[in-house]
Amino acid sequence: MKTKILDILKNSNDYISGEDMSKSLGISRAAVWKHINSLKKDGYEIISVTRRGYQLRSEPDIITPEKIYPYLNTRFIARNIKCYDEINSTNEAAKSENSCPDGTLFISDIQTAGKGRLGRSWLSPRGTGIWMSILLKPDIPLMDVSRLTLIAGIALCRAIGGEAKIKWPNDIVIGTKKVCGILTEMSAETDRINFVVCGIGINVNTKNFPDELKDKATSILIETDNKTDRCYLISKVVNELEPLYDEFIKNGFSSLADEYKKSCVTLGREVKVIYRGKEINGKAIDIGSTGGLVLDTSDGRIEITSGEVSVRGIYGYI
Ligand code: BTN
Repeated sequence: MKTKILDILKNSNDYISGEDMSKSLGISRAAVWKHINSLKKDGYEIISVTRRGYQLRSEPDIITPEKIYPYLNTRFIARNIKCYDEINSTNEAAKSENSCPDGTLFISDIQTAGKGRLGRSWLSPRGTGIWMSILLKPDIPLMDVSRLTLIAGIALCRAIGGEAKIKWPNDIVIGTKKVCGILTEMSAETDRINFVVCGIGINVNTKNFPDELKDKATSILIETDNKTDRCYLISKVVNELEPLYDEFIKNGFSSLADEYKKSCVTLGREVKVIYRGKEINGKAIDIGSTGGLVLDTSDGRIEITSGEVSVRGIYGYI
């Protein structure tokens, strides 16, 4: 009944009286009033004016599959959505529910144990960000999986738009601060991938960060002064991701490398890399055809495929 009342409010351009609603739904005016109050408690802004009735002014920024589906133009990504109010980590949920269809999207309003790369934790407060994981079942060689993260980086840059850029391999930054991180995990046998989980965390409407993150982290709201509809942004990300993923599966990373390079702020900068326990200093000069970072160092040119990269000028590294 509450959903029906909400539909009526959404579909009427003007005020709608309690009496009209009670007649068309066959319930009492008191019952209408009760449901309206319950909608208000859920965060819907509904105003009531004597002799005119009720009008819906704004909807709460809650994430539901019903709000995401209308925006989707994908074939399989996010066609099945598992939406949680609270969970430890959407990556963990996707891994334990790996029998779900290819492309299933796991999303939660809050993560109590959000995971970052290199064993770090990922701050995932309620109601402000996008904490989501996509379950994928690609038939590709094991060594290509890390490139999937690069593809996700391109999709995120396109979806967030504005000044969003990629810090190799897969942080999305605006200016000198991080707005989004990607954590890709997989389950595989010697020569066969069972599944890949691409976890994405976007700081969307975050107003403040704790002191320890203030200098390194930012949000779309802080950068643009605009509140973003999270469901719309989720759909934009997956709408961008799917064609990139299809292209990658068909033709590999090389056809996408140019766009990646254009968006990559690491290139042309001095970097410090912790790679296999060793510190390497050099200038980032290229992205290799397989997605590695090519460095010009005092020992010559080398290509690294993973590692912790500090880029001079970003996240306070000087
Ligand atoms: C990073 O360290 O940059 C990666 C952060 C990835 C965070 C996302 S939020 C959704 C998904 N679930 C997790 O526990 N982590 C990823």
